[in-house]
Amino acid sequence: MKFSTAFLFLLLNFEKICSSISLKGMKLNIPRAVRAGHSVTLSCEYDLEGAQLYSVKWYRENDEFYRYVPKEEPPTRVFTIQGIHVDVSVSNAHSVTLLSVGRDISGEFQCEVSADAPSFHTQLLSAPMTVAVVPAGVPLVTVDKTGLEHGRPLIADCHAPPSHPAANITFFVNDEKVPGYTSDWITSNEDQLEQKTARLELTGVGGSWDPLRIMCEATLFRLYRAKSLDIEVKPDTPHPASVLLMGTSSTDFNLFYHRYYVLFLELILLVIWV
Ligand SMILES: *[C@@H]1O[C@H](CO)[C@@H](O)[C@H](O)[C@H]1NC(C)=O
Repeated sequence: MKFSTAFLFLLLNFEKICSSISLKGMKLNIPRAVRAGHSVTLSCEYDLEGAQLYSVKWYRENDEFYRYVPKEEPPTRVFTIQGIHVDVSVSNAHSVTLLSVGRDISGEFQCEVSADAPSFHTQLLSAPMTVAVVPAGVPLVTVDKTGLEHGRPLIADCHAPPSHPAANITFFVNDEKVPGYTSDWITSNEDQLEQKTARLELTGVGGSWDPLRIMCEATLFRLYRAKSLDIEVKPDTPHPASVLLMGTSSTDFNLFYHRYYVLFLELILLVIWV
């Protein structure tokens, strides 16, 4: 009895001990985004600390596309998945290279490593990868200030060039980054690319105002970053409305707005005082 209990204890803990030491520091290296048509190497780092490797399996959204089992001959196996072309000649126990990736393979990629007997400990890591189409060209700012004198907002639109997925847009007013904007929308073009437009509304409230310089930046992950040209907006009547920023519910944006508002009040006070 004593013996079997001890044996059971050992057996249970052996599994635990192996589990805790077998796959130390496992790490998945997958780029967050890659350009369509390019190759990409996904790698999986692990340290079996003396245990033998049983298998490394790679999945896209739960579909296995590559397996490395050192005990088999050949050790590499490729499974046919639409859009995934494994370059077997450069893939091994730690990395797998995909050739000419297409947009349809964007998704969650997983690496699963199993140690050999006795532990068979298995660990799986997962990370997203997007196959992107990088924009050609730079974003463009257009401004409509016709409504200003009638108390309506000045409207600045930033048009990002077509991409996939849609680009992120940031506005800058007088070189200062604006946290957020009023609204945005996306249209699709004939190449199935997405074109985002973001809108910033600036509301007039009486008094005088300095010219504003409005610029925007479009980014696509770390693959693309481009700035538009600056557009200078000047008052064209002697006493037009003063321009303030407003229009989104974002806290950061309200803070920004608040700062400009305070600045404006200070200006009025100064004018009255003088
Ligand atoms: C847009 O920005 C968000 C927040 O920083 C980021 O998570 C996302 O990946 C970006 N998307 C693109 C297409 O760059």
